[in-house]
Amino acid sequence: MTDKPGSTSPSAALGILPLPGTVGAHSALRQIGNTPLIELTHMSPKPGVRIFAKFEGTNPTGSIKDRVARALVCQLERDGRLHPGQRIVEASSGNTAISLAMVARQRGYKVCVVLPEGVPPMIADTLMLFDVHLHWCKPLAGMRGAIEAAEQLAKDCGGVALRQFQNPLNVHVHETETGEEIVRDLPDVDVFVAGIGTGGTITGVARRLRRHNPKVRIVGVEPHMGERLQGLTCLDDHFAAPLFDISLLDRRFLVTAARSLQLMREITAREGLVAGVSSGAALHAALREAERMDRGNIVVMFSDSGWKYLPSRPWDAAERDDPDLDEVHWW
Ligand SMILES: Cc1ncc(COP(=O)(O)O)c(C=O)c1O
Repeated sequence: MTDKPGSTSPSAALGILPLPGTVGAHSALRQIGNTPLIELTHMSPKPGVRIFAKFEGTNPTGSIKDRVARALVCQLERDGRLHPGQRIVEASSGNTAISLAMVARQRGYKVCVVLPEGVPPMIADTLMLFDVHLHWCKPLAGMRGAIEAAEQLAKDCGGVALRQFQNPLNVHVHETETGEEIVRDLPDVDVFVAGIGTGGTITGVARRLRRHNPKVRIVGVEPHMGERLQGLTCLDDHFAAPLFDISLLDRRFLVTAARSLQLMREITAREGLVAGVSSGAALHAALREAERMDRGNIVVMFSDSGWKYLPSRPWDAAERDDPDLDEVHWW
C-alpha cells in the first residue's frame, strides 16, 4: 500500500501551497493544518477495529475551513485580484465565514458574508467581533440562494467573490494537505468517512488516499432531505455541489440531526473531545462501518470543534425528541 513511484504530485510535501513572502514565520496563517489524528479508544464497537478522528478543531479558528480560506485568499493575491482594504464576499453557514474573517484580518481585507437566517447566535456574534458585514438571506433559499446573493453583493459593492463551492483549489488543498497528513500519520487506512458540504474535503482526501491505497473505502455523510446539519448538504436536495466527485464514494449515509447531536455529546462524555455536530454525524457512519468489519482502521473527519454550538444547547431539543427539531437550523 504505497504510492507508485512518480505518482506523488509535485506539491505532495506538507504545507504545499506557497504562502506570500510577507507572511511571518509565526503568523497565524502558518499555524493552519497539521492537525492531529486522535484515536477514539472508547467508541469502537470491536477491539480489532480502530477509529481515528482527524481533528480539525485545532486550527486557529477551530475548523477545517481555515485551510480553504487561506488557500483561496492567497490564490486571489497571486492572481493580483486583491488590493489592500478590498472587500471579499462569500456565502457561508458559519465556518468558512469565520475562517475568511481571520485570514482577511491577517492580510488586510474587509469581509462581507451572506448568512442564512437561523445560524446559531454565536456564529453571528463571532463574525461581528471580526468586524464582518453580515447580510442575511432566507434559509428557505438554501445554499444556492445564499451563493447567488453573494455573487450579486460582490457586483454591487465592487468586491471579490471567494467562491469556495466552485473553486477547484478547495479540493486541491485537501488532496495535498489534509489527505497528505492522513497518509503520513496513518499509512494503513481502510475506511475514510466525512460529511459532504461543498464536497471539497471528501473529494480531495479520497483522491489522495486512493492514490496510496486503491482499496480504501470512501463513505460520505449527509443530512436527511430538508433537514439542516451545520456545514452539510443533502445530495437529494436541489443544490448540487459542483466540486463533489460522487464517483469516489462507496457508500452514503443519511444521518438525522438528533443522532448527530446525541453522538456529539457522547464524543465529549467518552473521549473528552469537544467536536461539532457534523463530527457526530460522521461518527454515526463510522460506527456503522465498524460493525461490518472484523478488523481495520477507520479515519473519520471531525471538521470543527464544538464550542461555538454549546450556548444554543442544541441537544436539549434532540433529547426531548422535539418534533420541531427539523425547523431549528443547526448549521
Ligand atoms: C462543520 C462542517 N463539517 C463539514 C463540512 C463539509 O466540508 P466540505 O465543504 O469540505 O464538504 C463543513 C463545511 O462547511 C463544515 O462547516
